[in-house]
Amino acid sequence: MLSAKQRREIVEFAEKRYKSNDPVHTMKHIRRVVRFAVKLARMEHGDRDVCWTAAMLHDIAKDEKGDHGARGAKQARKFLIGIGVDKDAVERIREVMYYHNKGFVGGSIERQIVWDADKLDAFTLSGVKNRLVPSIRMRALKNTIKDARRQYLLYLGRFHTKTGKRLSKKESAAVNRYFTRLEKQAERGTYYKVI
Ligand SMILES: [Fe+2]
Ligand SMILES: [Fe+2]
Repeated sequence: MLSAKQRREIVEFAEKRYKSNDPVHTMKHIRRVVRFAVKLARMEHGDRDVCWTAAMLHDIAKDEKGDHGARGAKQARKFLIGIGVDKDAVERIREVMYYHNKGFVGGSIERQIVWDADKLDAFTLSGVKNRLVPSIRMRALKNTIKDARRQYLLYLGRFHTKTGKRLSKKESAAVNRYFTRLEKQAERGTYYKVI
């Protein structure tokens, strides 16, 4: 579906757009989500190009006001049509992007794959350490850890694909141990040395 030239154009467009995003939603987040999305597409028999492109572009409107899924989907559609991507594929990519930041989505396998890939980046042990806890660290100390654990548990039950469920559950014991350690450290006041 995608030519080598179109792939290059998509990467260039993404790199330009993610420069202005907040420290959590940088190209590093995107690269990790793309890796998960491609892996999940292989395991779950999803369309690799649709998953790759949607993962690559899913947060392009993250720094804008309003629904970044809806806004990004619209902008990606325009861009992809402009570089000559097949209309049917563009529509599927648009839909995947639109739903990536909504609640439990279901729908096409590609929609489920990219949703899972995005959340896997935040809800594996390294995701929780690097992303979830620091991203809500500005709040009061005790609430930060409580909120992070609550968010984590909420999302753990929401993965759609078999592979997403398996990968997230595999790490849940280690993640829970990490939260317990943080809580103990918070009680002793040594929290900020740890994360
Ligand atoms: Fe997002
Ligand atoms: Fe994301």
